[in-house]
Amino acid sequence: MRLVLLGLPGAGKGTQGDLIAEKYKIPHISTGSIIREAVASGSDLGREANDFIIKGNLIPDELAMKIVYERLNRPDCARGWILDGFPRTVRQAVFLDQRLQSDGAHVQIAFDIRITPEEAIRRISERRMCSQCGAIYHLQYYRAKGNGVCDQCGGELYRRQDDNEETARKRLEVHMTQTHPVVHYYAQDGRLFSVDGVRSIDEVFSDVDHILQRTVHSECAGDIQ
Ligand code: AP5
Repeated sequence: MRLVLLGLPGAGKGTQGDLIAEKYKIPHISTGSIIREAVASGSDLGREANDFIIKGNLIPDELAMKIVYERLNRPDCARGWILDGFPRTVRQAVFLDQRLQSDGAHVQIAFDIRITPEEAIRRISERRMCSQCGAIYHLQYYRAKGNGVCDQCGGELYRRQDDNEETARKRLEVHMTQTHPVVHYYAQDGRLFSVDGVRSIDEVFSDVDHILQRTVHSECAGDIQ
């Protein structure tokens, strides 16, 4: 199964990506997480990307496409994957389709998780992430039980550098101009599934899972390659 997660910053792509990965045993690939790890490690990629991220801009297409090209070549991607945060421009979407075509594969589902910009700001402003395993929390909606530590691994929780309100508003603006057209790209040939993201995490997952199960069944029936 090959799927992409679209939606405003803070829509819940990372949260739903983790749940899908756990249930369907396929890797959850977040370009944002890969970039943040590169920034933290001080690698060439991290140094090049940091300026874009902290200002709320997208990194250049070439850089994002290189990251995804290399990641999809890894053996754990053979049975499928969930891409979160990619594609973010129509150019990236075309690149992905062409890259998959050479393997006789394609993106089967593009989920558009829909929330309002106001909800996006609420979610981003109070998000906390685990510095060790990347688990995602929220100070009100999805609190860690411990005091500032991750329930899953005990790692310290932190606030992302780009999660302040000013940068978040810039990210929303960039999304509307550069990423929203990607939704239309997948709608054109029937691959787009919109999900109401302004409900509980479990309710959103229930919708997502329902659509995935239908896809798995049609795959078994030989409708989808
Ligand atoms: P990235 O890390 O992809 O950030 P984003 O798209 O802005 O998305 P977020 O991670 O902010 O939100 P999310 O939708 O994953 O929501 P989450 O599940 O965490 O990218 C960061 C940067 O990297 C970009 O700005 C860009 O610079 C660069 N980049 C990355 N990919 C790129 C690419 N392809 N091309 C160019 N540049 C690229 O949830 C948010 C919060 O809400 C959490 O606190 C969570 O607990 C809570 N929550 C989730 N679901 C619910 C719910 N249903 N109800 C209540 N709370 C919820």
